[in-house]
Formats: sequence, C-alpha cells, structure tokens
Amino acid sequence: MGRTVVRAARPEEQEETGALVGAAFSAEPPRRRTPGGAEAHDGARPGVARVAVDEDTGQVLATAVARLCGQWWGGRRVPAAALAGVAVDLTARGRGVGRALVADTFAAAREAGASVVALIPSTHAFYRGAGCGVAGRRPVYAIGTHDLRDLPRDRSLTYREATPQDAPRVAELVAAHGARTNGVLDHDEATGSAVPYVAERDGAVVGWCALGRRPARPGHGGNYAVVVHDLVGADPAAELGLWRDLAADEPSAREVHALVRPGGLLEQHVRRQTETVEDASWMLGLLDVPAALAARGYPRGVTGRVVLDVPGHGVHTLDVAGGRAAVTPGGAPTVRVGPADLASVYAGHLDPLTARHAGLLHGDDDAVALLRTFFAGPPAVLDRPF
Ligand SMILES: CC(C)(COP(=O)(O)OP(=O)(O)OC[C@H]1O[C@@H](n2cnc3c(N)ncnc32)[C@H](O)[C@@H]1OP(=O)(O)O)[C@@H](O)C(=O)NCCC(=O)NCCS
Repeated sequence: MGRTVVRAARPEEQEETGALVGAAFSAEPPRRRTPGGAEAHDGARPGVARVAVDEDTGQVLATAVARLCGQWWGGRRVPAAALAGVAVDLTARGRGVGRALVADTFAAAREAGASVVALIPSTHAFYRGAGCGVAGRRPVYAIGTHDLRDLPRDRSLTYREATPQDAPRVAELVAAHGARTNGVLDHDEATGSAVPYVAERDGAVVGWCALGRRPARPGHGGNYAVVVHDLVGADPAAELGLWRDLAADEPSAREVHALVRPGGLLEQHVRRQTETVEDASWMLGLLDVPAALAARGYPRGVTGRVVLDVPGHGVHTLDVAGGRAAVTPGGAPTVRVGPADLASVYAGHLDPLTARHAGLLHGDDDAVALLRTFFAGPPAVLDRPF
C-alpha cells in the first residue's frame, strides 16, 4: 500500500465513491466497484467532496461529502456544512485514513465559508477525536395513525405534490421555523425516495412535508409505515393538518415513524408517544471558533463577557449584548473548555455547570453561570436525515 493523499473528488470518481458509501452503509454485501453506486455528491448542490487515494495505485480508499448550507442558532443563520457519507474502504481502516480525510473535509468546508459542521455519527469516538461534540438527540417515535387522525382538522387546507417552483416559499417556511428554534438546516429540495407535498390555504403555500415508506413492523399491522423526513407549517393549524391529513395515511399505514421535537407541537397534541424506533444523537463541530461564536444569536437581555480558552483554537473574548456577540482575540481566560465540549455547550446540549462537574470545563461560578445563560434555548434538533 502506497502513500495516501487527500484531495477534492473528481467527477469521474463518482461511481467509485458511490460504491464505497454503498459498501459502508448498506446491508447488501459489498459490490465490486461497478457503476450505479448511490449518494455520491451530485455536483448540483453547493458543497465539498473529498477523497483519500492510494498514490501508487490510484485506488479511492475513502470518501466524504459536505453540503454547504445555513444552520439556525439563537435566531440567526450560521454558515454551516452538513457532513455525510464518510466511508473508508474496509481494507484501509484503522491507519488514520478516516481521520486525515475528515480533517481535510472540515478544512475545505471552512475555506468555503462554513463555521460549523453538523453530522449524524455512527461512531461518536471517531468524531469526538475530530473536534465534534454531541449536540442533541433525534428520537424517532412510532405514532399510531389513528392518534394522528384525532388532531384538529383545518378544512381550509388543500394539498398537492410539491414542484420545484415551491422551493423559494418552502425555504422561507423552513427559515421562519429555524429562527424560532435551534439546529435547523436550510431547506434542501433533494428528498431522495420520499415524496414532497405542500399544504395550501387560500392559494398560498402554508406547509411542506416529505413522506417516505418503510416496511411495517411485524405485529403492528398495515401494509407499510410512513416515514416523515421533514414537515414544517407556517402556523400550528397548517403543521397539524399535514400530520393529520397526509402523514396519517390510513388504513394502509398503521404507524407513522417521525422525529418528535422535544417541546414541539406534536409532543403536545399526540396522546401516545411511547415507542421509539430510533434514538440517535447528532453532533456539531466548530470549524472556526470565533466565527461560529460571532455568527449565532444570543438571548436578548443578557449582557456579559466571558474569555474562552479553547485548547488548539486560541483565546477569545466573547462580549454578549442585545442578542449578538462581539468576539475579539485574546484576553485573560475565565473559562477553559476543549473544542468538542464547547460545541456541545454551543448547541445547548451540554450544560456548563454539568460540564464543570464532569471535569470537561473549568471556570469560576460567575463565568459558568453566564455561559449557561448565553447558550440557553430550545433543544437543538437536526430535523432531517441527510
Ligand atoms: C468510522 C470510519 C470512517 C473510521 O475510519 P478509519 O480510517 O478506520 O479511522 P482512523 O484510523 O482514521 O481512526 C481515527 C480515530 O478514530 C478512532 N475510531 C475509528 N473507528 C472507530 C470506531 N468504529 N469506534 C471508535 N473509534 C473509532 C480510532 O481509534 C482513531 O482514534 P485514536 O487516534 O485515538 O486511535 C470507518 O471505519 C468507516 O468508514 N466505517 C463505516 C462507515 C461509518 O461508520 N462512517 C462514519 C460515518 S457516519
């Protein structure tokens, strides 16, 4: 095996990278490197696609793709990257190829303007090593379609399949939703095999969802389960209407598998949410610590200063006032925290006081209390798998 180089993926490598991703994630036995591999970077969306290649043989050993988009934090849109499809060939694992590839992909995303990176990990330790921390959970529940049919009905809503012309309006709905909460990514028109629909009221688009299917769980009835990939409404009636009228596809489906946002509308309205079918967590990395701190929003009415010492990322003075932060280099540190744990604090997932108790963060009582108020907010949810 020769030297490994990491570089931008070339269009002619799409089949090879697709096959690698297929081999790493699909339950099918790995295929030979033949055409037709899925999920390679499609070139149409802004992003970076990187590969690790054996310099002697030219063989592609590993691949990673990051979509460039925005992510909503504290009411503001932070330039972000969504990392997907990290796959190292089975025969090349355990010798630093994955680490080098991810570091290179993060650097390329940062160069392209992203200050944070979001990902759904299959291995926490690997991404923690790359500077990412847990940002939140993604609990997917099996909800009975008959329970969804009990939701209030809004007879003014009509539904149709979405068209590409709907994208700007749907992006607005997603942005308005993002500005109210944390972790939401920009609207992504690509829905894979899921079918996108819109809800209209008086001729205006007031909601959007993407619905897929998976086999019904044994013993739970129905021909299939509906999987809600994404769902957003301009108002509660539009959102609940989509759940009731489209997602609850009775009688063929008896169950809807959907991410239930903690404290969200569905949690308040649906009687039974007891069975999780998935409970993954998602992770965040701060690609550019000062830029990420400066770009997000903070609770209005909170004013204060902390000086963060982030090993490997320098010392930064964070002055918060009026819902914004000014970040300047240097200062006398009041808090010391590693980059992965700072990312978890940034996401509101890791409470600074708990982090200090666990030995992950160091700071005096005042600085820790202030940090807690800076990053307080709704639980961060990464709505959509990508
Ligand atoms: C996970 C994966 C990308 C790691 O690639 P790799 O080239 O074997 O990883 P590296 O050799 O660069 O390892 C870097 C570090 O991560 C750790 N690591 C790697 N795989 C790990 C795993 N499955 N669990 C825990 N730690 C792991 C290594 O021990 C190493 O840490 P160390 O420096 O402290 O020893 C690779 O195994 C893979 O492609 N798996 C299948 C697809 C997948 O899970 N992708 C992750 C994406 S969501």
